[in-house]
Amino acid sequence: MIYEPREDSYLLLKYVKKYSFGKVLDVGTGSGILAEEALKSKRVSSVFAVDISKEAVDHVSSKGINAKVSDLFSNVRGKFDTIIFNPPYLPLDENEDKESSTITTGGKSGYELIEKFFKRVKNHLNENGLVLIVFSSLTNKRKVLDIMEKSGFKFKLIGKKKIPFEWLYAYSGSL
Ligand SMILES: C[S@@+](CC[C@H](N)C(=O)[O-])C[C@H]1O[C@@H](n2cnc3c(N)ncnc32)[C@H](O)[C@@H]1O
Repeated sequence: MIYEPREDSYLLLKYVKKYSFGKVLDVGTGSGILAEEALKSKRVSSVFAVDISKEAVDHVSSKGINAKVSDLFSNVRGKFDTIIFNPPYLPLDENEDKESSTITTGGKSGYELIEKFFKRVKNHLNENGLVLIVFSSLTNKRKVLDIMEKSGFKFKLIGKKKIPFEWLYAYSGSL
């Protein structure tokens, strides 16, 4: 199952367009919408996309984007200037099937995958690099900000959007 771009994708896309530069890594690329947007920028020199889903990687590769199957950074080598992540960020819903929850659920509380991401992202970010991330009010905003801060990131709210039942937040983070 490939994540059909939604409001979170379109919110982050605005900032991918505005801020991406240099070597870009798109984590959890899904349909590849954010990787494709980054590729359009004159400030971007290359784009590498990863996803845990082979289906998503095959789809994105077929569009000519350099992509690999990877569980977060497990198959990523080297450092990047911009790292994009529209993660699965919702808390576990016992009624959702496994395939769907892989693209929507960040763990029991929703923020667990984001926490894993921030434990590892520093190893792959250049000194003046930028992380662009989106999550929801259903993820527990305070906890996510705490995770970013404890990982040594300075973060900035760059955009937000109200959708039915939740707020979406886009943040940039730098070391
Ligand atoms: C919310 S979708 C975002 C898709 C796309 N980037 C967008 O903005 O429309 C989350 C994506 O993360 C992928 N994903 C889930 N767990 C992952 C993991 N551990 N490592 C890499 N990708 C993962 C899913 O397969 C899915 O494609």
